[in-house]
Amino acid sequence: MKTALGLNGPNLNLLGTREPAVYGSQTLDDVQALCAHACNAHGFALDFRQTNHEGTLVDWLHEAGQLQAAGTLAGVVLNAGAYTHTSVALHDAIKGTGITLIELHISNVHAREAFRHHSYISPAAKAVMAGFGVNGYALAIAGLAGI
Ligand code: DQA
Repeated sequence: MKTALGLNGPNLNLLGTREPAVYGSQTLDDVQALCAHACNAHGFALDFRQTNHEGTLVDWLHEAGQLQAAGTLAGVVLNAGAYTHTSVALHDAIKGTGITLIELHISNVHAREAFRHHSYISPAAKAVMAGFGVNGYALAIAGLAGI
């Protein structure tokens, strides 16, 4: 059974209480449960993580590259949070490892502030998903199953 890796960046640990009008009222634990359900439906094992640290995300992407090379990883669903809009290091890590990665955002970043319209992740991602709320995670896992 291949693994789907769900990676979450800064401030996503605050889901449930963080700007609920934008991100909804479900917690990150709720999102993990939703992802586990989706993985179960698509025959994936789930590895679900969150960090507030950019370098940790880089390390996890490198780990994903090794797992993909070993044939045990289906792909990565990455919500890089604000690092989406700032991080050349994440762009380089995705490019450098060649991993199959779906960029995910809970909110429709293109309908928000101008500084959220640019993504360093998108040019390195297989697909981009934004604006479906936390249900986007399940849709992204379904997308991975179809790749
Ligand atoms: C986000 C959108 C980002 O602009 C923001 O910095 C986040 C969350 C989203 O899921 O909608 O932290 O990635």
